[in-house]
Amino acid sequence: MWRIEPLIDPRQIADVLAIEEASFTNPWTREMYLAELENRGVSYCYLARDPGGRVVGFCSFWRVLDELHINNLAVKPESRRSGVATALLRHALLEGAALGAQRATLEVRQSNDPARLLYERFGFSIAGIRRAYYTKPVEDALVLWREGLANMTG
Ligand SMILES: CC(C)(COP(=O)(O)OP(=O)(O)OC[C@H]1O[C@@H](n2cnc3c(N)ncnc32)[C@H](O)[C@@H]1OP(=O)(O)O)[C@@H](O)C(=O)NCCC(=O)NCCS
Repeated sequence: MWRIEPLIDPRQIADVLAIEEASFTNPWTREMYLAELENRGVSYCYLARDPGGRVVGFCSFWRVLDELHINNLAVKPESRRSGVATALLRHALLEGAALGAQRATLEVRQSNDPARLLYERFGFSIAGIRRAYYTKPVEDALVLWREGLANMTG
């Protein structure tokens, strides 16, 4: 239902920024995404398109040695709760495993129940807390890890 494709061209960044701005109080900027595009072999970003070809979500991550660091995952507000993030996260974890990652990590706001429930479903568990990690509003981050990526099945 959702077509997942890599972000490889600066022209695709505008769609990502629109979702960033609708989703986060500290959205990443165009310059940040341009810098990520230059960081080949480490930085990856995937877009999800609906059947009409519209970008409805994205997931960005770094693969560093045997670790996958998920940086951003967001879905257009009107497309939420229909499996877009599930499709993106599954794709990111499988792609990370194919690139040699054994485990995945990310930070999430303590109060972000939708994201926490999603990550829990994917086998992430709490490994630590970073106090006052976020601003706007200030909030602790939970550090989550998911081991055993090599055992994931599509
Ligand atoms: C978190 C987010 C990415 C989830 O995207 P989504 O496409 O709506 O997620 P999915 O439809 O794949 O949901 C999968 C599961 O996650 C959980 N979930 C997702 N949103 C939820 C919500 N609002 N309330 C409760 N559970 C939720 C449910 O278990 C859901 O399964 P179900 O719909 O069968 O019950 C989306 O809400 C979002 O973009 N939020 C703002 C940005 C953000 O917080 N990103 C994460 C930063 S760490």
